[in-house]
Amino acid sequence: MIRFPADVVSRLRSFYEGRSVCVTGGAGFIGGHLVDTLHSLGASVCVIDDLSSSSLDHLGELLAMEPERVRFVQGSILDDDAVRDAVRGSAVVFHLAAIGSVPRSIEDPERTWQVNATGTLRVLQSARAHGAERVVFAASSSAYGDSPTLPKVETQVPAPRSPYAASKLAGEHLISAWSHSYGLSGVSLRYFNVFGPRQPADSAYAAVVPAFVKRIASGEPLTMHGDGSQSRDFTYVANAVLATLLAGSARLRTSGEVVNVGTARRTTVRELATMIGERCDRPSFPITETPPRPGDV
Ligand SMILES: NC(=O)c1ccc[n+]([C@@H]2O[C@H](COP(=O)([O-])OP(=O)(O)OC[C@H]3O[C@@H](n4cnc5c(N)ncnc54)[C@H](O)[C@@H]3O)[C@@H](O)[C@H]2O)c1
Repeated sequence: MIRFPADVVSRLRSFYEGRSVCVTGGAGFIGGHLVDTLHSLGASVCVIDDLSSSSLDHLGELLAMEPERVRFVQGSILDDDAVRDAVRGSAVVFHLAAIGSVPRSIEDPERTWQVNATGTLRVLQSARAHGAERVVFAASSSAYGDSPTLPKVETQVPAPRSPYAASKLAGEHLISAWSHSYGLSGVSLRYFNVFGPRQPADSAYAAVVPAFVKRIASGEPLTMHGDGSQSRDFTYVANAVLATLLAGSARLRTSGEVVNVGTARRTTVRELATMIGERCDRPSFPITETPPRPGDV
């Protein structure tokens, strides 16, 4: 369970306690942590998730424990009835449901577009129809592409390099357009490589931190796409959740602004492997280098 300092908790609680919110993709990695925290702050939470890349392993316990305050709609954000059912009565909609992963989007760009772009439109239409006050959208640092300029700032011109990045950028534009056209208060948070507990390590599309931890800890060779000199801003999930909760509760009206959520520190993939090796007491481990993957920045 994520813990925040007492003053932060009391500030967040004063907004979320007794409030109804919806989390799309709430069975997923970041969404699951967000749901836990919202629940601990006293919010009533409705989760919609089709469980296409997650399970009820974690959320199931909360649902059994708190049926009054946590509701689950198993369905797709592309299904109007399911989204309406989930969003109904929510003051804030946290929209995290998506097909993640750049390689997956290279394999199936249409599905990525449908869920990430059209799905965002469906969520916005429901939020609008049900009078939600705010929509917080899980955008992505992939919008910056491989521009060498550092640090990445929100005023930089986006340069998506993969179907995933393009679909998430489309989502940002939808949030902005719906804010301006229909008066929804929307905000897009560009998360930078989020990592933390319960992040899946087993899928072929696993993120680099859990994939490396699993491989190094078990003594298996790890696969490095490229020479490992590519850097990322690795963001602990508690920080992403805190930024998300602050965005949902900010008093100021938002109209589709884009906000980076990261640490402004770069770590190369090779440095990451070394750090994990040190923590796992495995200072040396076999590495298989493969060519960089299409779409990777
Ligand atoms: N993890 C990161 O580093 C990172 C970085 C940038 C942006 N993001 C964004 O943050 C959000 C959450 O990421 P995550 O790492 O928790 O991913 P995740 O895959 O764990 O969570 C996404 C959830 O969405 C659900 N989902 C997929 N398609 C759906 C559909 N059609 N209808 C309903 N639910 C559906 C999945 O089952 C899953 O539970 C995503 O929008 C992702 O694009 C994540």
